[in-house]
Amino acid sequence: MKAVVMRGFGGPEVMEIAEVTTPEPGPNRVRVRVLATSVNRADIIQRQGHYPPPPGESDILGLEVAGRIDALGAGVSGWNPGDRVMGLVAGGGYAEYALVYAEHLIPIPETMNVTTAACVNETYITAYLNVFMLGGFHSGQSVLLHGGGGGVNTAALQICRALVPDGTIIVTASSGKLERVMDLGADLVIDYKAQDFAVEVRAFTRNRGVDLILDHIGADYLKANMKSLAIGGRLVVIGVMGGAAAPVNLAHLLVKRQHIIGSVIRSRSVEEKAAITTAFKENVLPLLSGRRIEPLIHRIYPIESVRDAHGEMESSRHFGKIVLAVQ
Ligand SMILES: NC(=O)c1ccc[n+]([C@@H]2O[C@H](COP(=O)([O-])OP(=O)(O)OC[C@H]3O[C@@H](n4cnc5c(N)ncnc54)[C@H](OP(=O)(O)O)[C@@H]3O)[C@@H](O)[C@H]2O)c1
Repeated sequence: MKAVVMRGFGGPEVMEIAEVTTPEPGPNRVRVRVLATSVNRADIIQRQGHYPPPPGESDILGLEVAGRIDALGAGVSGWNPGDRVMGLVAGGGYAEYALVYAEHLIPIPETMNVTTAACVNETYITAYLNVFMLGGFHSGQSVLLHGGGGGVNTAALQICRALVPDGTIIVTASSGKLERVMDLGADLVIDYKAQDFAVEVRAFTRNRGVDLILDHIGADYLKANMKSLAIGGRLVVIGVMGGAAAPVNLAHLLVKRQHIIGSVIRSRSVEEKAAITTAFKENVLPLLSGRRIEPLIHRIYPIESVRDAHGEMESSRHFGKIVLAVQ
């Protein structure tokens, strides 16, 4: 099959299209003919050599796929070749065929095309897991989302607004993206390059702080995040784009009874991901199939242009998702 392979680690130029062996579905897995996949920030980090796939998983890039079932492994029931599906994978998405655990498959709603379906699993499941299942966001609460133009955070903002209509949503973004973030339903958008977000959050919440922060910046934002959190607030860290190591003021943490939660989805067990997928199907999929929320597609590239697609994400010009179409 055709796949994106990496000739070492480094910039986009290490990626190229090559012929590789088509994978065979083992027990409880299905093989999906991939019609679209999408670029996630984690793919960039893997390409640079800082985010290896979990042991036993494909070392081909790509964390989510959409397409049609091509073959079933032993013990798979309830699915048939030809079914339109989307799913989370721990690797292997940038290819004509990818293996997906049957429990991680989601039928593509009739109202959704495969291009859009390729933007659902990594970002919307990450957003739902961390904001709702781990973060406990609910009616009457306030949340701070960082990087409102990104894949995960456009998804998080949409889900928060749809599931918690009376919630207060504060988002940081860079200058060219502020209006579009506001249009997605934010109550306050902070230009993180021009403003001190902790000062703005405290002013907007009348010095109370927010109940929850979804953060992927890490070290650079730890102090300001803790200043922005209310008493009893939760900081869920899902990325370290701004560094991994930072001092924590534990006195501040205990006096304010705050929680810092770290979370990754990729290396969780098959069972954990299945449980997360089930909760997602119950609580978020209806919003997507009913088109109350919809992934924002910035641009679709043919997979042969994967270098340009990565370059675009690294330039941070994108708003929403970058798709790779696989013909
Ligand atoms: N732990 C998990 O399970 C998990 C799963 C999926 C993703 N993630 C992580 O989530 C993050 C987002 O992933 P993604 O695929 O959505 O990437 P993405 O589309 O590139 O989004 C990242 C966003 O962050 C913004 N940003 C950069 N520096 C910032 C700063 N200092 N303050 C605020 N915003 C900033 C960027 O835009 P501007 O530069 O225009 O602001 C961009 O919109 C990544 O760190 C990824 O590794 C974690």
